[in-house]
Amino acid sequence: ARAVSVRNEISYVMVKPDGVQRGLVGEIIGRFERKGFKLRALKLYSTPKEVAEEHYKDLSSKPFYKDLVQYILSGPVVAMVWEGDGVVASARKLIGATNPLASEPGTIRGDLAIEVGRNVIHGSDSPDNGERETALWFPEGLVKWDQTLEPWLK
Ligand code: TYD
Repeated sequence: ARAVSVRNEISYVMVKPDGVQRGLVGEIIGRFERKGFKLRALKLYSTPKEVAEEHYKDLSSKPFYKDLVQYILSGPVVAMVWEGDGVVASARKLIGATNPLASEPGTIRGDLAIEVGRNVIHGSDSPDNGERETALWFPEGLVKWDQTLEPWLK
């Protein structure tokens, strides 16, 4: 028998408009699948302005805030929720450092991006933000795996 997860940690992960336009969605989803996390929600989404502003509200005093919101609104995003033990910290490792020129090779940003203002992907920076961002982007709720016969993923 396999151990059942008791933590149910979730991370909100988003392929940003540049990643969608560059055709990197499959590559990015594939990395999370191969790592072994469980997909709980997924949509191609034309972000409402209020959602983008709320998502980045902690950065609203930063000089790059306006450009950042404009960038997130510049095309559809792929919004996702991934679940698993330690998924928040692990997703941040898979994603790499904020500035892609400083991200290690082997990470998503390290392999696929060069500009901090076009860094392809978002991942929640804490379990609390994982919950908060998931509620913001998926008010409709998550998908359950109750009907899955074989629990390959925990
Ligand atoms: P932040 O939350 O600091 O980074 P991360 O996405 O790695 O959690 O910043 C949010 C986004 O803001 C970041 O992904 C890209 C953008 N950004 C800039 O455009 N310029 C900057 O100098 C910083 C720090 C961030």
